[in-house]
Amino acid sequence: MSLRSAKWFGNADLAGFIHRASLHAEGISRSALEGRPVIGICNSWSELVNCNLHFRGLAESVKRGVLLAGGLPLEFPTISLGENLMKPSSMLFRNLMSMDVEECIRAYPLDAVVLLGGCDKTVPAQLMGAASADVPAIMVTGGPSEPAWFRGRQLGAGTDLWHYADELRAGRMSELEFAELEAAATPTYGTCNEMGTASTMAALVEALGMSLPNTATIPAVAAARLRAAEATGARAVEIARAELRPSAILTAEAFDNAITLLSALGGGTNAVLHLLALAGRVGVPLTLDRFHELAARTPLLVNVRPSGEHLVEQLHHAGGVVAVLGELTPLLQTESIAVNGLTLRANVADAEVLDRDVIGTLASPFGAPGAIAVLRGSLAPNGAVIKRSAASPHLARHRGPAVVFEDVYDVAARIDDPALDVTADSVLVLRSSGPQGGPGMPEWGQIPIPAKLLAQGVTDMVRVSDARMSGTAFGTVVLHVSPESAAGGPLRAVENGDVISLDLDRGLIDLEVSQAEVALRLERLGPVVPRYRRGYGALYLDHVLQAESGCDFDFLRALPGEPAVSEPFGLLSGWVGGW
Ligand code: FES
Repeated sequence: MSLRSAKWFGNADLAGFIHRASLHAEGISRSALEGRPVIGICNSWSELVNCNLHFRGLAESVKRGVLLAGGLPLEFPTISLGENLMKPSSMLFRNLMSMDVEECIRAYPLDAVVLLGGCDKTVPAQLMGAASADVPAIMVTGGPSEPAWFRGRQLGAGTDLWHYADELRAGRMSELEFAELEAAATPTYGTCNEMGTASTMAALVEALGMSLPNTATIPAVAAARLRAAEATGARAVEIARAELRPSAILTAEAFDNAITLLSALGGGTNAVLHLLALAGRVGVPLTLDRFHELAARTPLLVNVRPSGEHLVEQLHHAGGVVAVLGELTPLLQTESIAVNGLTLRANVADAEVLDRDVIGTLASPFGAPGAIAVLRGSLAPNGAVIKRSAASPHLARHRGPAVVFEDVYDVAARIDDPALDVTADSVLVLRSSGPQGGPGMPEWGQIPIPAKLLAQGVTDMVRVSDARMSGTAFGTVVLHVSPESAAGGPLRAVENGDVISLDLDRGLIDLEVSQAEVALRLERLGPVVPRYRRGYGALYLDHVLQAESGCDFDFLRALPGEPAVSEPFGLLSGWVGGW
């Protein structure tokens, strides 16, 4: 076996001298380098990302595992993406982080890498970067935060906030009570503790086979998570020696397993974008239609908010992701290989469900198949998605007049205006919120119910946009409309009073306006003025793909027929790089 890092450290020449001397400068001896796999620990720790705040400790546990298994751990930082603090949206920077991760992995002398991801976009960004670099990689996620308690009830980090925010706007909750909620809402580090985007993605990492089994749901504060990190570090040394690369794990079958789990979890719609983007990195031809097909046969098996009642911690105590996968076995590609070297069949062989109030069976699920549905029609020719498991059944088939908001600022200015011409039958439409228009496709899709309707007891309405929605949110919310309005999609042409029809059973979202009229309106409106003219923003606008391609950059997708390049350009023995 020849280690990748030996190309840096193994040569008795000037380049080898300089490479080794650079680590001697860190106090690392020559014997620590010789014959040992070098394991990079890609750490998305940041004080700007509260969800990942414990990653320094997690990295220490990974290092211990690497050392125990005979490897040399070297930790490195990348940019990190904090869901709540980054504006306009952390999604604007997911591809940037993936490039940071990819290029660090490729450029440095790493035989394998451990990815430490947690908050929503950090996980897909790391996976996408590692997949493109195709150096052996394994992920350990950060785990869910502890539940908050508010007035005798356990809170979901996001789901319950949306509920209480509506209570405040409807005048049923005081400012003082809301401040009390704010103080209680996030009691520890870790990711949002319901089946939001972060918990969904952590679970899907397991289903894809990129993390050790049953690590996704371990609470962030639990010692078991540190032990999982230690085991992950040890396994990283083995995959380095075995050269088990992401391309051997991220197969079409693995994506099918992840999509099936997504449906069974009632997971966040953001996962659709991330899986599409990740598949594009490894040349798996995944489409929205595959999500629809697999979701249509997979019932809701997990009773966790926002589609159910419990939190991720209860899912962990009920048996975790492995127990859910065990129940789903008849629907899964069980010969897929995971990063521990075993098939999915072997990994779920001993799975046991410990609480049937949290994990159901295929024969007795918590909800009907189709938790995430794909819609098409004259308003979304290239597709849209809806989280059906969190939508209201009485709105599954609905026709209503559009109430149009030009952008999120327009929503803020008018949504609670008593004079707003809106009824419970109206369809709220938001545009300028897609990949280009947002920019970065912010989570603005869950347009608030107008205050005057909230006061009347209205709790849900049909809402349509080219935006995303928090995985913790709920409602009859049509998202990811493509093409987006800023790219000249029909959404841009919708006017107040136009009738929009939604039929979830038939997968339809239509604008009941003639195509000729839509074309005329679009011509009259002319092109959209780009939001950025320089810097990363301009690069983003030039290259971001639409939602049905996962909003990746066109130049980051795998090239058909061309293998991933794992070695950096300019890696020559006997020559001196970097001087
Ligand atoms: Fe970071 Fe939810 S805000 S995981």
